[in-house]
Amino acid sequence: MNLPRTAPQRAPRLLPGLARKDGFLLHPWDEAHGVRTSGLVAGRHLRAGHAHDRHITAYYGVAPSVFRGLLARWRKLHHAPLHKTTFIDIGAGMGRAVLLASELGFRRALGVELHPTLIRSARRNAAIWRKAGRARCPIRFHAGDAVAFGFPPGPCVAFLFNPFGQVVMRRWLLAAVRAFANRPGELSILYVNNEQEDVFEKVRASLSRLSSRGNPDDPRPNLVRLFHGPIQRSSQDRLADHRILANQPDGEYASAPHEDCSIWEWLS
Ligand SMILES: C[S@@+](CC[C@H](N)C(=O)[O-])C[C@H]1O[C@@H](n2cnc3c(N)ncnc32)[C@H](O)[C@@H]1O
Repeated sequence: MNLPRTAPQRAPRLLPGLARKDGFLLHPWDEAHGVRTSGLVAGRHLRAGHAHDRHITAYYGVAPSVFRGLLARWRKLHHAPLHKTTFIDIGAGMGRAVLLASELGFRRALGVELHPTLIRSARRNAAIWRKAGRARCPIRFHAGDAVAFGFPPGPCVAFLFNPFGQVVMRRWLLAAVRAFANRPGELSILYVNNEQEDVFEKVRASLSRLSSRGNPDDPRPNLVRLFHGPIQRSSQDRLADHRILANQPDGEYASAPHEDCSIWEWLS
């Protein structure tokens, strides 16, 4: 009997930086939870046809200890109830920060991501996370550009782990400020590896100039920085990130014991 020939099954092609031959190592957090958020993909490998994708820095999941440290710092400074607040990861990658946020009691945890392959991984990870019963709130991932993302009503916390360069950071920040123009007190911005901090300073300064020309009895909201400083990695994350980055064949990135972070609020 002649059986129909079937093409040999090929494993799907991984993005550069996610294969063992590229020096990929699994982060122990992924190993512990059965998800896949590890790997380093340089920005040049994340071009998928959008005008903003040439400004992508890289994909790399935030160190869980840095995420938790920054959230704990924010909660000391910001007392609005978490169950009314939406968490949004701006440049969500494979979803590590959204999964971590979903354990904390937010109203919902959202992620917006430009690269289609990364967002597919994020959705797979969310399914695993929900099945394991770890999500305490709804999780959603939106495919597309962070600058065009429509913020939901109610208090929001936008989380950024150095997703893009200066041009897109300025566009994103101006879009956020416009969206919250009449919603002072409803936006917090948590920024890890805050390379584009000067964009925030410039936008704040230009808003102050506009505001000082207006009615002093009707102050306009502006950006206020509540925190600026290092957040330490745990020893487990320090070791893991060091091993992962040192294993990269081109040695392009290095890891430090901490991440420089800042916390901004939109206040009147
Ligand atoms: C350093 S990774 C951070 C991943 C995730 N936030 C985390 O902490 O695990 C930055 C991510 O931002 C995404 N990104 C960059 N520019 C973007 C844009 N304009 N819109 C949406 N996502 C973007 C990249 O594709 C990348 O996945």
